[in-house]
Amino acid sequence: MADILILTLTLTLTLLSLCLLLLFLSNSHKTKLPPGPKPWPILGNLPDLLPHRRRLHRFLSDLSRLHGPLLTLHRGSSPIFVASTPASASAVLRTHDRSLCGRHVPAAFRFPAYTPSTFIWSTTLDERWKSVRSLCKSELFSSKALDAGSAERERLAARMVEGVRGRAGARVDVRESVVKVVYRMVGEMVLSADVLERAPFLREQVARAMELAVAPNLEDLWPRVFGGLDLQGMRRETAEQLERMYRVWDVMIDERRRAVEDEATKKQDFFAAVLRSGFDDARIKALFSDLFAAGVDTTTASIEWTLSELVKNAFAMAQVKQELDAVVGKDNQVRESHLPELAYLNACIKESLRLHPPVPLLLPHQSEEEDCEVMGHVIPKGCGVMVNVWAIGRDPDAWGHSPDEFCPERFINHHDECGVDFKGSHFKFLPFGSGRRACMGMPLGHRMIQLLVASLVHNFNWGLPDGGMADQLDMDDWFELTLERKRPLVLIPSEVGAC
Ligand code: HEM
Repeated sequence: MADILILTLTLTLTLLSLCLLLLFLSNSHKTKLPPGPKPWPILGNLPDLLPHRRRLHRFLSDLSRLHGPLLTLHRGSSPIFVASTPASASAVLRTHDRSLCGRHVPAAFRFPAYTPSTFIWSTTLDERWKSVRSLCKSELFSSKALDAGSAERERLAARMVEGVRGRAGARVDVRESVVKVVYRMVGEMVLSADVLERAPFLREQVARAMELAVAPNLEDLWPRVFGGLDLQGMRRETAEQLERMYRVWDVMIDERRRAVEDEATKKQDFFAAVLRSGFDDARIKALFSDLFAAGVDTTTASIEWTLSELVKNAFAMAQVKQELDAVVGKDNQVRESHLPELAYLNACIKESLRLHPPVPLLLPHQSEEEDCEVMGHVIPKGCGVMVNVWAIGRDPDAWGHSPDEFCPERFINHHDECGVDFKGSHFKFLPFGSGRRACMGMPLGHRMIQLLVASLVHNFNWGLPDGGMADQLDMDDWFELTLERKRPLVLIPSEVGAC
């Protein structure tokens, strides 16, 4: 009897001590987390976050003004962290880049047929990630590779202009016109093929995959309870979408392998370099899907936002048109060789990327291996870290008065910001991120934006339907991994020179 009593007492004491230890450990963690709004039991900050899901960049910007440059939020039981000033962005992306360069992968994208092969969602920078990055850098995004694709992009831009010309005087949804040509441009670079002919559903599949990456998922919110269960079927659906894309890549890879054996049809392009690289098929297919997912909506959104700003700002539009007339010539087609000479257009593109960064919170980072101490706070390993580049681009301390105004002149010669670029070393301007995980498609994205905006502006005058006042153009936005216009940009083109 005494034995049983002692045993029970020992067990109770051990359990109690364990509970106290766990409580102590979790509290000691909590006290070092960055500050943030008080979480609700179990739900964390979800009751505040969910209603602002589509305006998350704005909501987080307001919160950071209350709680500081690095803040904690609890999505259910999972803490996430947000850096919202140039200094905290620099701490995350430069000082602690080595630790925080892992990707925090949404649960819907974690499954064996994809995770080990993807580039974008690679949790660590292992040899696989490095070899893909280095292949893309030299064979896809180098100046040599980009110059080799110039004529094809110019041909596609001319085709877009013809399409718009055919609709002169009618309503044109700019996004619809632009997104197709961007798909084709990326398709020509990556596959040397008309991707919309080969994969007509690619656009819908990518769009749905994006939705699944940001939609609230019980597995992400309460991983200890729902982890691995896929109760909402989101992982299953992502896998199905990818599977459909992969079927197209399978056919194309197969065709290419057969063509490689035939000297006459052998091409020296990116596709050939990928096949020579020795990557297995799973990696090749994931890479193709990753490039379209990362490259098309971002570039399209930038073009739509830049044209919106130009339509809204008549003075800037007139300046760009004047510059194009001088550099390109009234009756000539814009060529990529003209682009470096278009200083004012480039200032407008930068200003648009500052005000409307297409990936406003970057893709979530994390530390894979260990907790990381940032600005005196602890970021536990495995927790997501976002950088609010939208808030940073409008930070009055960084950009002076009127940071919300479209003023391309700020990037021109005599102004303070004239030397500021988006290559990742100026932490107040990070539309492409910075550090190891920065966008690697920036050189291609930038060329496409310049060429397509220049072509649209050089060939057409743009007005609002129903006699709408251009300076009143609505600029409301909508967050879904990329920052879109809430309402599409619908304009009426008229040909330049036409009465
Ligand atoms: C305006 C156009 C673009 C913008 C604003 C943009 C922006 C970004 C941003 C913010 C990131 C994440 C950086 C981070 O998490 O720290 C990213 C990643 C990436 N981007 Fe872009 N991007 C653009 C165009 C492109 C294009 C055209 C491609 C390729 C065709 C591309 C390929 C990628 C890839 C592969 C990654 C993942 C890099 C990694 O995880 O290591 N992007 N991009």
